[in-house]
Amino acid sequence: MGNLLKGKKGIIFGALNDMSIAWKVAERAHEEGAEFVLTNAPVAMRMGVINELAEKTGSQVIPADATKVEDLENLVTKAQEVLGGKLDFILHSIGMSPNVRKGFHYTDINYGFYEKTLDISATSLHKTLAVAMKQDAMNEWGSVVALTYIAAQRIFPDYGDMADAKSLLESITRGFGYHYGTKKNVRVNTVSQSPTVTTAGSGVKGFDSFISYSEQMSPLGNAGALDCANYCISLFSDLTKYVTMQNLFHDGGFSATGVTESVMEKFGVE
Ligand SMILES: NC(=O)c1ccc[n+]([C@@H]2O[C@H](COP(=O)([O-])OP(=O)(O)OC[C@H]3O[C@@H](n4cnc5c(N)ncnc54)[C@H](O)[C@@H]3O)[C@@H](O)[C@H]2O)c1
Repeated sequence: MGNLLKGKKGIIFGALNDMSIAWKVAERAHEEGAEFVLTNAPVAMRMGVINELAEKTGSQVIPADATKVEDLENLVTKAQEVLGGKLDFILHSIGMSPNVRKGFHYTDINYGFYEKTLDISATSLHKTLAVAMKQDAMNEWGSVVALTYIAAQRIFPDYGDMADAKSLLESITRGFGYHYGTKKNVRVNTVSQSPTVTTAGSGVKGFDSFISYSEQMSPLGNAGALDCANYCISLFSDLTKYVTMQNLFHDGGFSATGVTESVMEKFGVE
């Protein structure tokens, strides 16, 4: 398509299958001229079809469990070797809650699982950024994007402890955005995406009705995975150099809408 990311190198976490938001980001980054390494948890590699994506985008796959600092150290070192230089962008597209997956109610969670939810879905961003900073692996004006959901700010009952993880993720974005910004002009942002049909998304109870509700509550309708990828590309590009420490809604207007006419109609209001 274009050359928005020409010459840029990066790491893309989280492409599990062709529905994954990270998968679309990888395809679009490739089209825009970027070179990158793909990564996912070793267990996800067995289930996923990441090698297809690697072939299509001319990328190497380096497995890493994003909760393990030694895996991340290996990933960041090897990515720089493979790509022949420092990194310009990182996509953190990782989320998982064993409590949500196993149907534990928010008021009666398993605390071992809770720690896992926070570690996988939020602390992993801190670990990734800390490893990148220690290895001085990012170029000046590099860009890091993590994906989040509005349940960090508002209650969505079925989102369970993932809401707590997203709040932490967004807080880490501000914390590391400050420190990486002052140190090396590296920017860190979260993109708060509409509900999207993916493996992680569909794990939330009542997802199908929820996605329809969200669609009707968004003046532009739900934003899809490809459009989310396009937004991420713009954030990796040099066109957004002074955007950092932000939670950026990519949700068709959902976050600013109180109610819509189509939702009101369901309550018999003309
Ligand atoms: N789908 C939605 O409705 C939606 C909405 C807003 C935000 N998000 C966020 O987008 C991101 C991507 O999710 P998705 O919807 O594309 O689903 P997905 O299931 O395709 O992606 C989630 C990824 O996390 C990876 N992962 C899990 N544990 C890991 C670990 N220990 N180490 C490394 N990777 C690990 C999985 O293997 C998978 O690739 C997540 O942060 C999710 O919360 C999704």
